[in-house]
Amino acid sequence: MIHLSPRLAAVAKLVPAGAKPIDVGTDHAMVPVWLVQSGRCEQVLATDIRSGPLKSARALLEKTGTSDRIRLMQTDGLAGIGPADGDTVILAGMGGETMVDILSAASWIREEGALLILEPQSKKADLRRFLRDNGYAVLTEQLVRDAGRIYPVLTARGGESRSYTETELHLGLLDQVARDPLFEEYLDIMRAQAEKAAPYDEAAAALVEEYDEIKRRLSHDDGR
Ligand SMILES: C[S@@+](CC[C@H](N)C(=O)[O-])C[C@H]1O[C@@H](n2cnc3c(N)ncnc32)[C@H](O)[C@@H]1O
Repeated sequence: MIHLSPRLAAVAKLVPAGAKPIDVGTDHAMVPVWLVQSGRCEQVLATDIRSGPLKSARALLEKTGTSDRIRLMQTDGLAGIGPADGDTVILAGMGGETMVDILSAASWIREEGALLILEPQSKKADLRRFLRDNGYAVLTEQLVRDAGRIYPVLTARGGESRSYTETELHLGLLDQVARDPLFEEYLDIMRAQAEKAAPYDEAAAALVEEYDEIKRRLSHDDGR
């Protein structure tokens, strides 16, 4: 059984048993291999825009004897892919702006009610803003620690979005994410990032104040 990093394990475990996932930007196809080896999924479509990653993916499929259940495809985002190809779309290890481009060109995900599993590496506020403004409801938000960093992992589906404050676009909806055991640490990291930008960026300076206020509220709720 293939070993996944904590980040990829968190992503893979969000795929419902029996789902037909599409792993976009699969690179080595680690998640698809785990999904079939674990018995969670019968078939997976794994795509990448570049031929190099698909070559590594093919090698892993051959090594693990999973070639008959994982279909590889070279394409940009979800070009040439539709609801007949899957019901769960994974976008992991990419920038939020790339995810927005890919989702903008694939409205069938929202219309068909496919499940989205998203692990953005940057521009997380832009991704949440896109979801809110384009008919997606975020279902869950969680944080995962991997190799000294903390990553947010979201699930979403077509539906009415809740309203977000500007701060929640950066952190996630507080009632979903503030309960996470890693939240306070993540808040400190986000605050340090905003503080660095604050001298040149009013919005970042405002975020620092908001983050401090959230921290105060959390300590108060804890009775500290
Ligand atoms: C850093 S790797 C992440 C691999 C894996 N998903 C993970 O989370 O570890 C990003 C992969 O996305 C692919 N990629 C980038 N833009 C893409 C796009 N528009 N469509 C499909 N794949 C893309 C890259 O070629 C690369 O293999």
